Amino acid sequence: MKEVVIHPFSKKVEGEIRAPRDKSLSHRGAMVGALSQGVTVVDGFSFCADCLSTISGLELWGVEITKEEEKERIIVKSAGIGNLKEPEDVINAGNSGTTMRLLAGMATGIDGFTVFTGDNSLRKRPMKRVIEPLCLTGAEVGGRKENSFPPFFVRGKNRVKAFSYRLPIPSAQVKSALIFAALRGEGISFIEEPLPSRDHTENLLRYLGVKIEKKNNIIEIEPPSFIPASYLSLPGDLSSASFLIALATLLPQSRILVKDVGLNPTRAGFLTCLREMGGNFKIIEKREEYGELRGDIEVEHSSLRGIKIGKELIPVLIDEIPIIAILAAKAEGITIISGAEELRVKETDRLTAITQELKKIGVNIEERRDGFVVQGPCVFQGGKVNSYGDHRIAMSLVIAGITGNKDLIVEDIDCVKISYPNFFSDLEKIGYKEWEVRER
Ligand code: S3P
Repeated sequence: MKEVVIHPFSKKVEGEIRAPRDKSLSHRGAMVGALSQGVTVVDGFSFCADCLSTISGLELWGVEITKEEEKERIIVKSAGIGNLKEPEDVINAGNSGTTMRLLAGMATGIDGFTVFTGDNSLRKRPMKRVIEPLCLTGAEVGGRKENSFPPFFVRGKNRVKAFSYRLPIPSAQVKSALIFAALRGEGISFIEEPLPSRDHTENLLRYLGVKIEKKNNIIEIEPPSFIPASYLSLPGDLSSASFLIALATLLPQSRILVKDVGLNPTRAGFLTCLREMGGNFKIIEKREEYGELRGDIEVEHSSLRGIKIGKELIPVLIDEIPIIAILAAKAEGITIISGAEELRVKETDRLTAITQELKKIGVNIEERRDGFVVQGPCVFQGGKVNSYGDHRIAMSLVIAGITGNKDLIVEDIDCVKISYPNFFSDLEKIGYKEWEVRER
């Protein structure tokens, strides 16, 4: 296992950097490519470990995918919706909940038997939330521990029943699984969400000509007979960029320009909170392309104040809460996060992980059932912390180390490749080079 030694940085970060590629959109780009008939080119594809799991899954269904990593591009050749074939092996989604849940939705419309498994972390994550509603399609779906955990199977059919379902939790993964299932429905399906969650699946499918509408929180999906192959160019990942944005905010005199970041409002809650905390950034060149908003973000150092983040905002900043904890620790006053119990079922229990590790380095933070409370400002002390094998915890702790006052060792650092393989080289591009990775 690898660990990284982070030396604190007393200088500024600066310069221009292209945002890391978007993980959520890359999964979906590959998936809609597999549902399209012909050759789909997906530019701006993230070659992170999670998206590679999606590619392997789709290949097992007979989709041909050429990877051009240098060009950040994949080329997807597929017989399209209704023509994917039964896999000859189990689909291993690795660490990726998005791969597992979204492909499970697609599997209901494939005439055959698909089995899903994952790594130690993923096999402990809740799957009843997709298994139960996917049964509404008439496909057979079942899994370990009374349909709760992977491995699980889907015995799909070329055509499934149309359905109506109200999501009990605002989850884009569950919603997207159901949208993919609805594409093979015998009529229009309806999905109601309690709060808006990221709508990338809806945007991409609509861009490709699928009739998908949202009326008062209810999404209506009309199954297409065919989806033509097309060209897609995906924006960068605000979730990954948030680590760079946080660093530039925290280090005095810093100023960076992050180019081509996805700004979809159902993903951009981090920016709303940063603004409320007193963050100094501006968005330039905002535009819509391929169904998604994108733009450049110019960030400068600023001092911050504590804020309250409640339930309604959680779905739009769900993955940014660990890095918000770092900002909150440096902010003047109290930050309270509530309604975030979903964080307990991510790659690790992120509420416990972030509070435990930040306490070790001197942060005044208390865990709550559905969030945490931070009293700032704090000085990050050095020492040793653990990522729990969770990429977003690992990168948040690295940012704490850089902005701290003594060397910080972050154990189990390899996991950054799950979403952001170029994390350390991007830190170097904006001027921070004082880290060493070593084998333990
Ligand atoms: C994702 C949705 C979110 C998020 C995850 C990616 C997606 O999960 O935490 O990292 O791509 O749909 P939930 O939908 O389970 O909240």
